[in-house]
Amino acid sequence: MRKIKKIKKAYLEQVFGIEQLSNSTPWSYSSFLDCMKKDYEFYVSLEDEKVIGFFIASFSLLEGHLLNISVAPNMKRQGIGNELLKKVENLSNKFGIKEIFLEVRESNQEAINFYKKNGFIEVGIRKNYYKLYEGREDALIFSKKLRDNSLSLKQILYILSNLFRFRIR
Ligand SMILES: CC(C)(COP(=O)(O)OP(=O)(O)OC[C@H]1O[C@@H](n2cnc3c(N)ncnc32)[C@H](O)[C@@H]1OP(=O)(O)O)[C@@H](O)C(=O)NCCC(=O)NCCS
Repeated sequence: MRKIKKIKKAYLEQVFGIEQLSNSTPWSYSSFLDCMKKDYEFYVSLEDEKVIGFFIASFSLLEGHLLNISVAPNMKRQGIGNELLKKVENLSNKFGIKEIFLEVRESNQEAINFYKKNGFIEVGIRKNYYKLYEGREDALIFSKKLRDNSLSLKQILYILSNLFRFRIR
């Protein structure tokens, strides 16, 4: 059975393995370690304790940033990416986030189709943002506005706690 869980150190090697298969210029292991800190939302999709996908997001005040999302190559097109993105949106709604932003390589048609299918729209471009083996490549900026839910007391407390860097449960 598939489930989505918060990252644990024990999953990190598998996450790193997926990253290396999925990204032409993969993040370093130490970048993933950094993202285990409390400022990031780092979750994995598991099938019987095997990691089959992951995402990393960061939330600041009313904006969310999806920093990385990947599904194991042999598990693509089975709805796992959709489930992970739904989790990002659920967390965003919980924390009062109004809009989620992300960057994607302009050549990554697979991911562009995936984001468009999930209601993201292109809102900008960052010139020469990504390294290639030779030269550089533009990033397309996509965003999705979330439903305009008014903030609950819990969300206001969460935003304040982020401002002052402590967490209220
Ligand atoms: C992008 C990615 C996360 C999508 O994950 P996934 O589990 O394969 O996606 P899903 O199965 O949930 O697909 C959802 C929808 O997205 C669209 N989509 C996904 N992959 C697609 C592809 N290769 N071509 C066209 N549309 C695609 C489809 O509309 C799909 O719905 P459908 O299968 O019913 O047609 C995955 O392809 C991946 O890990 N890519 C490599 C890493 C990467 O590029 N990450 C994004 C960096 S910005």
